[in-house]
Amino acid sequence: MNRQFRTYFAAALLATGFPAAAQQAAPTAPPAPAFAASNLTESGVRAMAATCASCHGTGGKPVAGSNVAALAGRAKDDIVQVMAQFKEGKRPATVMHQIAKGYSDAEVAAVADYFSKQTAR
Ligand code: HEC
Repeated sequence: MNRQFRTYFAAALLATGFPAAAQQAAPTAPPAPAFAASNLTESGVRAMAATCASCHGTGGKPVAGSNVAALAGRAKDDIVQVMAQFKEGKRPATVMHQIAKGYSDAEVAAVADYFSKQTAR
């Protein structure tokens, strides 16, 4: 590689590679992944409620003999308040401290609204 070619090569790199890198550095937050659909839709809320169902039962109605509390028909504000207490570690829990932290306040409000509208057994 002679000197002239190297200079040309460096100039070509500057002209092509560097501006592209500068453009990529611009966004401040990474874009949301394509699979991260909003939970704040009708089907999103049902999907969130389904994650509670493994312990609290389908639609918040626990299976017979379960020790886990029913959520169906409970007042929305009550569920919201209890979830906030779990999140803040102010209410004793074995698993709910961790679970409550996985949901935003808006998501908790939406899922609480969903369970409040399910008819209790
Ligand atoms: C892995 C099982 C499990 C899952 C999943 C789960 N819970 Fe719980 N939940 C519990 C247990 C066990 C308790 C009792 C407190 C504790 O030990 O953490 C509880 C307690 C609660 C309480 C308080 C009930 C009361 O009367 O004191 C609420 C409200 C609640 N869960 C809401 C939810 C919601 C909403 C979801 C879904 C987003 C959910 N839970 C998912 C196991 C679970």
